[in-house]
Amino acid sequence: MKEIGGKTAVVVAGGDGIGRGIALALADAGANVVVADIRADAAERVRGEVIGRGRRALAVRTDASRLEDMQALADAAYGEFGGVDILCNNAGVLVRPNRAIWDTSYVDLQYVVGVNTWGLLNGVHVFVPRMRAQPGEKHIVNTSSVGALYEVAGLTMYLMTKAATIAFSDNIREELRADGFGVTLLIPGVVNTNAVTNTALVRSPEARAAEAAAKPYSSYAQERGEVLVEVPGGRGAMAMNAADTGTLTPVEPDQVGRMVVAAIRANRSICMTHPAPRAAIERRAAALLDGYHPDD
Ligand SMILES: NC(=O)c1ccc[n+]([C@@H]2O[C@H](COP(=O)([O-])OP(=O)(O)OC[C@H]3O[C@@H](n4cnc5c(N)ncnc54)[C@H](O)[C@@H]3O)[C@@H](O)[C@H]2O)c1
Repeated sequence: MKEIGGKTAVVVAGGDGIGRGIALALADAGANVVVADIRADAAERVRGEVIGRGRRALAVRTDASRLEDMQALADAAYGEFGGVDILCNNAGVLVRPNRAIWDTSYVDLQYVVGVNTWGLLNGVHVFVPRMRAQPGEKHIVNTSSVGALYEVAGLTMYLMTKAATIAFSDNIREELRADGFGVTLLIPGVVNTNAVTNTALVRSPEARAAEAAAKPYSSYAQERGEVLVEVPGGRGAMAMNAADTGTLTPVEPDQVGRMVVAAIRANRSICMTHPAPRAAIERRAAALLDGYHPDD
C-alpha cells in the first residue's frame, strides 16, 4: 500500500506502547485512525493525539478477546468511516513473573491465549470479510514477538501464542493476496513500553494476587545454578541463551510505529524491530535439517 494518506486504520491495543506508536505513525502518514483498547481512557488519549495531528479519529473500548467487542468495534469503524483499509492486531499480554508451565494457573492460560490468540482470530474473523468486500488495497499487521524465534524458559505460554501468530500470518497472507491484501508480521524485540504495569491495570484483583504468589521461573534456574541473562533497563533476568540477547536492547515505540508504516508502504511480509537473532535461526535451521533419521 504505497499511499496511506486518506486511508482508515484500526489499531487494536492502540492505547499505549507499540499500538500507540503505530497509531501516531499512521496519523503522521495521513491515515484516519480508530483506536481500540480495553482501557477506554487510554484509547481516548490516543484519539486526541491523532486529532492533534490533523486526522480524524475514533476511540472504542474493546476487549480483543471478546468476539462481541470486536464486532462492535467493526460496526463503529465502518459506521464512522465507511471502510477499513488497515487492521493492526496488536493485543498481547503476558503474566509476571515469568513462570514454569507447571506453576501456571488455568486462569492465566486462558487469559493469555484469550487475548493473544483469540484477539488475533477475532480481529481477522470480524474484519476480513468486510475488508474483502471493499475494492482497493488492504493491509493487516499482526504483532508477534522475537521470543517466538528462540527459547525463553518461563515464557512458554506467551511464546506459544506468539509462534502461532507467525504461522497464522504466513498462511493468511497466501489466502488474501489475490484479494489485494498485504500482511505484515511485526516481530518486536524489547520495546520500551509500560506493558507490565498496563497488564496489572486490566487484571482482576484475584488474578493479581495469584500473580504475586507465583514462584518466578528464575528461582528454579538459580536453584540449579544456571546463569540468567539480564534484560537492559532493569527489566529483570531471563533464562535464555546468551547468544540471543541482541534483541534485548530496548527501542522506542514511536520508532516501531515508523518501521511499521514503512513496512506497510513496501508491503514487507516481516517487520523486525531489531536485527534478526541469527544464532537462534541457525540453531533451528540446523536442527530441522538434521531431524530426519528414519533408520535410527
Ligand atoms: N514491549 C515489548 O518489548 C514487546 C516485545 C515483543 C512483543 N510485544 C507485543 O507487542 C504488543 C504490544 O505490547 P506493548 O509492549 O506495546 O504493551 P502495552 O501494555 O504498552 O500496550 C498494550 C495495550 O494493550 C491494551 N490491552 C491489554 N489487554 C487488552 C485487550 N484484551 N484488548 C484490547 N487491548 C488490550 C493495554 O491497555 C495497552 O494499552 C503485544 O502484542 C506484545 O505481546 C511487545
